[in-house]
Amino acid sequence: MGQARDPAEKLIEAAMRVLPNSYAPYSGVHVAAAVEAEDGTVYTGVNVENASYGLTVCAERVAVAAMVTAGRRRVKRMVIVADTREPLPPCGACRQVLAEFGDPGTLVVSISAATGERREWRLGELLPHAFTARQLPRRGLDAAP
Ligand code: THU
Repeated sequence: MGQARDPAEKLIEAAMRVLPNSYAPYSGVHVAAAVEAEDGTVYTGVNVENASYGLTVCAERVAVAAMVTAGRRRVKRMVIVADTREPLPPCGACRQVLAEFGDPGTLVVSISAATGERREWRLGELLPHAFTARQLPRRGLDAAP
């Protein structure tokens, strides 16, 4: 009878492992994300900046894209690790992308690699009244269920 295992633990480890690969020469903010798909598989991403700043891609969206590339469609939970003093809340664009493949109950855990501070939210708190496929008259045949 041990302690219940932290469901975010394997995602934290996965995100920590790839954090050194973050490409952030302009902002100096290094971010890694890990998502767990419906079958338990974990996909990771890091932020990838560009000299043309607006082309920067956030870690969360890279992780979600890796999951979709592998043929998965549902995010069970997400972990974000950043070298900021405070746990980094996902940006608005990433919240919207997560809403495509998650649901209001999807857990988002964020950890400061600098201090170890941890914050948790549900996607429904981060993005209330999300715009989703439900608002569209026609849904693509391969849309997330
Ligand atoms: N960044 C992320 O990777 N995720 C977020 O949710 C917020 C911001 C990155 C983008 C950029 O490389 C750096 O953090 C500073 O904005």
